[in-house]
Amino acid sequence: MNLFTLLVCSFLVITSVVAAADEDGNISMLMFTKFKKRYRKKYNKGAQCSYFRRWKNRKRLIIRHNKASALGETSFRLVDNQFADESDDEWNAKLLGLVIPGEFSAKKFGIKELTSIDPKKDVGERQIISSTITIPSSLDLRKHPCMPPIKSQFSCGACWAFIATTPVEFQSCLRNGNRTVVLSEQQMIDCSNSYGNFGCNGGFYTQAWDYIMAVGGQTANATYPYKAVAGTCQFTPGVTRVSGRLSRYFYLDSNERTILSALLQRGPIAVSIVANSKFILYSSGIFDDETCKNGTINHGVLLVGYGTANGTNYWIVRNSWGPLWGQNGYILMKRNVNMCRLAEYAFLALL
Ligand SMILES: *[C@@H]1O[C@H](CO)[C@@H](O)[C@H](O)[C@H]1NC(C)=O
Ligand SMILES: *[C@@H]1O[C@H](CO)[C@@H](O)[C@H](O)[C@H]1NC(C)=O
Ligand SMILES: *[C@@H]1O[C@H](CO)[C@@H](O)[C@H](O)[C@H]1NC(C)=O
Ligand SMILES: *[C@@H]1O[C@H](CO)[C@@H](O)[C@H](O)[C@H]1NC(C)=O
Ligand SMILES: *[C@@H]1O[C@H](CO)[C@@H](O)[C@H](O)[C@H]1NC(C)=O
Repeated sequence: MNLFTLLVCSFLVITSVVAAADEDGNISMLMFTKFKKRYRKKYNKGAQCSYFRRWKNRKRLIIRHNKASALGETSFRLVDNQFADESDDEWNAKLLGLVIPGEFSAKKFGIKELTSIDPKKDVGERQIISSTITIPSSLDLRKHPCMPPIKSQFSCGACWAFIATTPVEFQSCLRNGNRTVVLSEQQMIDCSNSYGNFGCNGGFYTQAWDYIMAVGGQTANATYPYKAVAGTCQFTPGVTRVSGRLSRYFYLDSNERTILSALLQRGPIAVSIVANSKFILYSSGIFDDETCKNGTINHGVLLVGYGTANGTNYWIVRNSWGPLWGQNGYILMKRNVNMCRLAEYAFLALL
């Protein structure tokens, strides 16, 4: 940081603290310096001030929100995490990356019973989930041997590739007697454009699965490592060694009981959500935000468990923003209220 920037920003801090001290407390350049250090932030010359200003405004909202949380007025807490200084454009470009294909956005199938799963991709197994099992009060697949470590998409709008990969990893691991597999998102980023995906500029998990089924499988991350930028396809069908496979997938009813039953019996469920600023700055508790019930779907995540805490039902949701985000990479989201529209594009992929 050059001296001029320091002086200008310090001046902004002093004036804004004076102006907002009553309501917002004590937001100082020192706190920003700590924030930068915590996340090893480096800014281009001259950009520091706008990052500082954005961080400060968010920090103010976060302090206010967490005060409300301490009073029991909201069930979750926020934090100025590694994304707290970034613009909405940066969030859109690097954190998100979901584009829903027209065939799904057009119309959902009817909400009926457990058997009313879309037979579109069904290759003969009519009843993939049973409606007669007893439902335990909770499930947590975070520590299941087939759940791979939390990954990070870094600065690449390919959430779709990460969402698509976890079910392939999970189902392939189950088939291999619980031997963990870590598969290559980069393969899908580089090779599945002709299935409707756009590398680091968005895509959809079903299109990644269409690709995997067409080329015979997905190779290991160790073979085809993640680079966070799109490149030339390095996978040759029939030649490159495959470590994970998939045979079919199902579009589930927008009914959280059906979705829960499928998760319980078959494994992780890929869903699309509205990731708003509070979602991005989530720290802990059960995410329950009225504004997130409406809005544009822009992100994909996975349901990997459920439970009830303090009288509130929740989903355990796996994200692809690294282990520093949320609760070691996961978030709890309120269940049975279509929070962030999570029930609308729920898919189960099987081997
Ligand atoms: C303001 O922040 C500084 C540095 O973090 C701290 O030493 C000071 O006690 C704070 N003042 C108030 C009123 O919170
Ligand atoms: C795989 O792990 C799950 C969860 O720990 C366990 O219930 C199951 O019995 C294991 N399966 C095998 C084949 O070891
Ligand atoms: C995948 O590969 C990249 C690049 O080698 C590596 O940094 C990352 O840790 C790997 N992911 C996992 C979950 O092992
Ligand atoms: C339940 O409430 C307690 C006390 O307010 C809190 O510490 C805990 O984090 C809450 N649990 C969840 C999952 O939010
Ligand atoms: C969401 O939008 C719909 C119309 O698009 C409206 O009917 C509904 O009340 C809105 N819900 C919330 C929570 O704002």
